[in-house]
Amino acid sequence: MTRIGLVWAQAHGGVIGAAGGMPWHVPEDLAHFRALTTGAPVVMGRRTWESFPDRFRPLPGRRNLVVTRDEAWAAPGAERAASLDDAFALAAQARPDTIWVIGGGQLYRAAIEQADVLEVTELDLDVDGDTTAPGTDGWRVVASDPDAGWHLSRTGIRYRFLRYER
Ligand SMILES: NC(=O)c1ccc[n+]([C@@H]2O[C@H](COP(=O)([O-])OP(=O)(O)OC[C@H]3O[C@@H](n4cnc5c(N)ncnc54)[C@H](OP(=O)(O)O)[C@@H]3O)[C@@H](O)[C@H]2O)c1
Repeated sequence: MTRIGLVWAQAHGGVIGAAGGMPWHVPEDLAHFRALTTGAPVVMGRRTWESFPDRFRPLPGRRNLVVTRDEAWAAPGAERAASLDDAFALAAQARPDTIWVIGGGQLYRAAIEQADVLEVTELDLDVDGDTTAPGTDGWRVVASDPDAGWHLSRTGIRYRFLRYER
């Protein structure tokens, strides 16, 4: 049975984005994201795809599914999907263990009802933003990383990894 997972990193107040990007740099979180998602299909909104620098897209080792209403949209290495459900149907064909929804705010909100697991990185950071994570009411933390606590990024930001299930 294929699970649907959402994965995001949030600063204080649930901020996940600003001006089309992520207003922090935490390489340890990028490594965590890569480890979780490599080998699985990833589903993202068109704006999240646009937020990646050319050299980082498509995300390697993953089927990249991009949701957009623009029928003419195309990009090398990406598969277009007209809706979230179309993206899930395409991704499920190969019977992956997990389909990861990787953002952004619109896609998380559209997908959370169908999700089985949330992988949330909390950043101990105050930052202004224009995009937020969906709420986690009704979800409970089932696991965090082995140290179960806060780590210090080499860029100076404190962070921790939390896994939620219903
Ligand atoms: N912190 C994190 O973990 C994280 C992760 C990912 C992204 N982000 C940030 O989040 C921000 C982007 O998020 P966002 O909410 O602005 O955009 P988004 O969710 O990435 O993409 C929105 C776009 O997806 C398409 N879309 C959305 N719902 C659809 C539907 N029901 N059917 C068909 N297409 C649909 C539309 O594309 P068209 O307009 O082309 O139709 C829409 O404009 C950026 O700042 C990014 O850096 C943060």
